[in-house]
Amino acid sequence: MQKRPPFQIFYRSSKMNLNDIVKMQDINLDNKNVVVRVDYNVPIKDGKVDNPKRIAATEKTIKYLLSKGCRVVLMSHLGRPKGKPSAEFSLAPVAPEVEKIMGVKVYFAKDCIGPEAQTVVNAAKKGEIVLLENLRFHPEEEANDKAFARKLASYGEVFVQDAFGTVHRAHASTSAITEFLPSAAGFLIQKEVEFLGGALETPKRPFAAIIGGAKVSDKIMVLNSLLNKVNVLIIGGGMAYTFIKAMGRTVGTSLLEADKIEEAKSIMASAKAKGVNFLLPVDHICAKEFADDVATITTEGADIPDGYMGLDIGPKTIKIFEEALAPCKTVFWNGPVGVFEMASYAKGSFAIAKTLVGLTKGGAVTVIGGGDSLNVLKKAKIPGNEVSHASTGGGASMEFVEGKELPGLTALLKK
Ligand code: 3PG
Ligand code: MG
Repeated sequence: MQKRPPFQIFYRSSKMNLNDIVKMQDINLDNKNVVVRVDYNVPIKDGKVDNPKRIAATEKTIKYLLSKGCRVVLMSHLGRPKGKPSAEFSLAPVAPEVEKIMGVKVYFAKDCIGPEAQTVVNAAKKGEIVLLENLRFHPEEEANDKAFARKLASYGEVFVQDAFGTVHRAHASTSAITEFLPSAAGFLIQKEVEFLGGALETPKRPFAAIIGGAKVSDKIMVLNSLLNKVNVLIIGGGMAYTFIKAMGRTVGTSLLEADKIEEAKSIMASAKAKGVNFLLPVDHICAKEFADDVATITTEGADIPDGYMGLDIGPKTIKIFEEALAPCKTVFWNGPVGVFEMASYAKGSFAIAKTLVGLTKGGAVTVIGGGDSLNVLKKAKIPGNEVSHASTGGGASMEFVEGKELPGLTALLKK
């Protein structure tokens, strides 16, 4: 008899696939009252939505529901208000933005449960939208509380999950609610799973990943997971300096996680053993301070002189990365390769973004995950539709690629 593989291996091989989950178009929604979990955790500036991308990303789902004659009750969190109401984290500024994008009346309920919410929900007609106040004003949301979930479920006959950015959380509105209503994935969830699951699980090759960001410790899981899949692994950003140090180079005052040097060595050894083309920066833009308006130097090689910190990849590195990416048919990018928020250190990340746009035009599948990489696109004035898929999930897209179980998706599995 065949031995059952140990749990870990069994789990890793049972990847989430689009065919595994219930899709909204597969259930009858005609004239139904539908509760939709969205991720409208968007940046608010001076009382206005600063970036409506996550709202626009749910347009297809919501307009589909409206076209079926549904009454749509939207619920979301915003920020981390820690179980208490607060003006700072109110979803009120989001309502006019939803109205603008969806083109129908949006009623805002000043609480997500209780008589206030009930009155607003009751008043809304089919073909109209209600937006409930921040779910996280109640501690029961993050506690995945069943009684709270039942109250949210009472607004509808069907639950549609479209908050991809939040599916890595087991909360009342992503997990417990599915025990009370027939539940299905919206179009945004489907698109995310199609790209992060399908395109990256069975990639056209060569397959490259570019991983940046500040810390190695945040990315160890994803690096180890990607090493089993990619042909090329490119490292940039603050985390690169720990790898550079691990190679015996000098890093000056750059970001360094001294306790992760051994981990960096083992990742590099694993890349070598698996035949992955592992690329680190070979030159850097450096400064003496973490500031934009100071003198910068470009190093000759990978070493960073005393008193200087690396803040972006240099021109030789940009060329090497571009050449390595040129033949690739699938590219996944998570994390900027420099401090792109400051103009002096944005060149490297902009170059990566432009390379991905070019590859997309040439037919490659390009997937970007993580809020920071998306902000690079925004800053470089590149529309999200110039890459194959710009994920709306930061932590969620990362955990998906790591192969972790996402409770919000597990809750949508076909029974
Ligand atoms: C996000 O922006 O990362 C999601 O909305 C999830 O928010 P959280 O990290 O506070 O759970
Ligand atoms: Mg987060």
